[in-house]
Order: sequence, then C-alpha cells, then structure tokens
Amino acid sequence: MFTDDISVVSVRDIFPNALVFFTEDGFAQTGGRFSLPLPILLILQSINRYPITFRAAQIAPLSAQKRALAIAPLHLVSGSSHGCATDTRAGRKAAPVEGHMFMDKFLLFTPGPVNVAANLRVAISSEDICHRETDFDTLLGSIEDKLLSLFQIEKRSRYRAVVITGSGTAANEAMLSSVVGDGQVLILSNGEFGERLHKTSQIHNARTHLIEVPWGQAFDLDRIEAYLDVHKIDVIAMVHHETCSGMLNPLIGIGALAKAHNALFIVDGVSSVGAEPVNMERCNIAFCSSSSSKAIGSYPGLSIVIGRRKHFEKLKHHKAKTTYLNLATFYEFLKSRSQTPNTPAIPLFFALEQALSNLLAEGVENRFAAIRRRAEKLRCGMRKLNLQFLIDEKDMCCVLTTVRVPKSVDVTDLRRRLRESAIIIYEGKGCFKDKVFQVGNIGEISDIDIAFFLRTLRDVLLASPTDRNIPVVPIRGAKSAALPLGGFDQAALPVAV
Ligand SMILES: Cc1ncc(COP(=O)(O)O)c(C=O)c1O
Repeated sequence: MFTDDISVVSVRDIFPNALVFFTEDGFAQTGGRFSLPLPILLILQSINRYPITFRAAQIAPLSAQKRALAIAPLHLVSGSSHGCATDTRAGRKAAPVEGHMFMDKFLLFTPGPVNVAANLRVAISSEDICHRETDFDTLLGSIEDKLLSLFQIEKRSRYRAVVITGSGTAANEAMLSSVVGDGQVLILSNGEFGERLHKTSQIHNARTHLIEVPWGQAFDLDRIEAYLDVHKIDVIAMVHHETCSGMLNPLIGIGALAKAHNALFIVDGVSSVGAEPVNMERCNIAFCSSSSSKAIGSYPGLSIVIGRRKHFEKLKHHKAKTTYLNLATFYEFLKSRSQTPNTPAIPLFFALEQALSNLLAEGVENRFAAIRRRAEKLRCGMRKLNLQFLIDEKDMCCVLTTVRVPKSVDVTDLRRRLRESAIIIYEGKGCFKDKVFQVGNIGEISDIDIAFFLRTLRDVLLASPTDRNIPVVPIRGAKSAALPLGGFDQAALPVAV
C-alpha cells in the first residue's frame, strides 16, 4: 500500500486519525478503506469547521499533472492557521523538501515534546474557566480519575494524583523537596536524569547519598543491597527510563529492596509513564512523577505526582522546603477542593484531560503495545541500515532508540539534514555528545511517518560525505568494549527501506 508512487496527505480534521492517499489515478483513499474523488474531498474541506491540516510527501514520483493535483489542496488552504506549502505559521515555512516533498509540520521523533492528536488542539482552546470554580474542580477530578486508570491502580482509594503547572523537573523537585524531610535519601544514577535527581536532592536534602554507575550501564542490585545493609536510608529515588541512554531501570528489584529496608521508593517516571507499565502497588512505589508532554501525548507544561494516600498524608509533618512545589500543599488543595494551590495553566489541563481520554479510549495495554510496535519497526529499519544501538535491545525502553553515530557521519549535520525534511531527532548529551543520536517514537507518529523517516535517514546517510572517525566509547563494560565501533557500510545498505 505505501509505495513510493503514492502521495500521502493527511486530513485529520475531516477523518480523525485517517490518512488520505492520492493514488496514480488522482483519487483519494482514506486509510485504504474507501475512496473519494478529490473534488468531494475539497467540498468536505470547505464545510469543515476547522482549518484542515494537509501533509503531502513523496510526490516526486508522480507525473507533473498528478503532482499538481496532489499539491492543489495545499494551495487551497494557503493562509490558514494550519500547515501548507506557503504557510509561514509560527515564523516557520513548511519545508519544500528536495523540491518535491511538502511537510506541514515537524515530525517529532523525540522523547518529547511530541506531535499531539488533532483533538488536543481543539481541547486546548476550550472555554475560559476559573480555577476557583466547580468547572475546574470537575476537570481536575476527571484528570485524576484517568491518571489512576493509566497507572492501572487496583486499590484506587489508596492513591491520589496531583497535577503541577511546570515541566517534569517540577514534579521531581516537588517529590525530592517534600518527601525526605530530615531523613537520608539514596539516589541511584546511571545517566543524565539520575544526575539531575542527585543535584536536586543535594539542594533540598543535607543527607543525600549516591550510588552512581556510568551512563548507559545497568545497576548492580547486589551492590545496592549491600549499601542498604550498612546505611540507614529513608528514601530511595531512581529514574525509571533513563532517557539519555534509553535504558529501562528495574522497578521491581529496587522496589523490593526498598520494602525490605523500610525505605520509601520514589520514581522519576517522566519519560516512561504512558509507554511502559509502572505498577505502583507491585513495585512498592510511594510516589511517581510524570510529564504531560511525553508518552501521555499532551503539550508540555504540566507534570504529575501520583502517590500513596497514606504517604501524602504524612508530608504535612515535614518542614516545608519550597513554597510553590510543596507536595503537602498540593495534596491539601486536592483533598479539600479538587483544586491546585496556585493559578494553574488551565488550557493545558483541558489538553491533558483529552490526551488521557484518548489513551484510555485506545486502552492502556493497547497504547503500550502500539508504542512498542513502533519502536520495533524503527529499530528493524535502522538495523537494516547497518546502524548499531548503544545498549542491548532487552534493556531498552520502548520510548526511543539510542543509536551510535556511524564513523563517517557528523551528527549535527545529520540532524540538520533530517530537519530539512521536517524530521526532528535528538543528539546525545554529556558524555554521549557526538557519539549517539536518539530517535523517539511517542506521540502521533504513524507507520507512514516511520517509513518516511527511514527513507530520509537512508538518503541522508548515503549522502554523508564526512569521515570524522569519532570513536564511540564503549559503555557496557569489558564485554561490550570489544564490540566494533559504530560503523556504516554504504555498500551494505538495502536499496529500499
Ligand atoms: C527521565 C526524565 N526526567 C526528567 C526530565 C525533565 O523533564 P522536563 O524537561 O520536562 O522538566 C526528563 C526530560 O526529558 C526526563 O527524560
């Protein structure tokens, strides 16, 4: 179905979640299920309440006449607030790619922020409400209810979820500043975000301990247990998905150690919640953070702390270390009024509620499976391009893939060239700078987007002229140190992805 001689145009506002393909005979097919002649499609567009988003890609193989037909809708929506070939929305022109492809939006192959569902654009512009009125109480109540469902909590009455206006870091800082009190906290770090937890904890907690392993390396549970045997630790904090490497850290193992040593377990779930199961009950998690703009699929700007009610109740006994991020205050307002202590970013709450509705309508397990399937598709395609991954696939979270930069490639150049095709990826940071790039697969990413990404990546790699010979520092211990460096054999490339 998705061959190179078909132009792809999305008209999600007419057919939510559907894609329209312009076939060689000029007919538009939606999702392969039914066909509509172009004029009818355009009438539908004209009666549609919202501006329509068109995306045309891969129209180069069409004849000039067919190409004009495929591009026509782009010109028709010229000047709308949504994308088109001549759109200058938000200071950005929709990119003409290689003179033939048009992309009305960036494809965010990142671990967040993500491309959001069309109905979130509607939700975020819902009516103006006041956060001290019942309208907001109801909205927050609905969000909390849906969060408990997302976390698949069985004993729902034992848990509460607060929503903070602020990105994921706000939720982590709220936990670290509110939960530890005068106690001893142990931070487990195997990457950038573990390091951030440590830095944050040091600001708020005089008695902060650290067990650190190199970025991208798995924790040794025996070492952690031995540490807990000789140190009285009150709180253990760990990142679930260490986004810098893509590694998924062991919730069950650490949760069991925390329970055995009578410590509270707090988890940074910013980049895993919504994509991977986080079983609060089975893993003895007291508090877990998350963010609106990653696998949950909403806009950036909100974060979440879900936790055991009995632990929330105890927070008021700790001396406050912050005003704005004090979890005890958030909990009090939630409990007594279903509100937030300060003025929340209300439009973002509407969008978050819609994102959670979408997720639950799809089904939590189905969403997890869909994200994993997309990750596997991307990984399979990148393996075919002879690319090597930073860590073993069995250790990877399904949110993203961290890829070693091939010897012949300048990663900044790679990223720039993908961007010319409206594809956004991440470069490695810290000790991974210049050595890896990251490809995310959360948010509204379709199979067609993935195929487009893989084709574009192949083309960019084939055109890569440099030979910078950057060594990839092995990070998986002595065994993997023997692994060959990330290599890219152009001759070995398949012709089509
Ligand atoms: C695991 C993890 N924790 C915390 C953060 C910080 O989140 P934010 O940038 O939304 O504040 C991120 C961001 O990517 C993350 O991946």
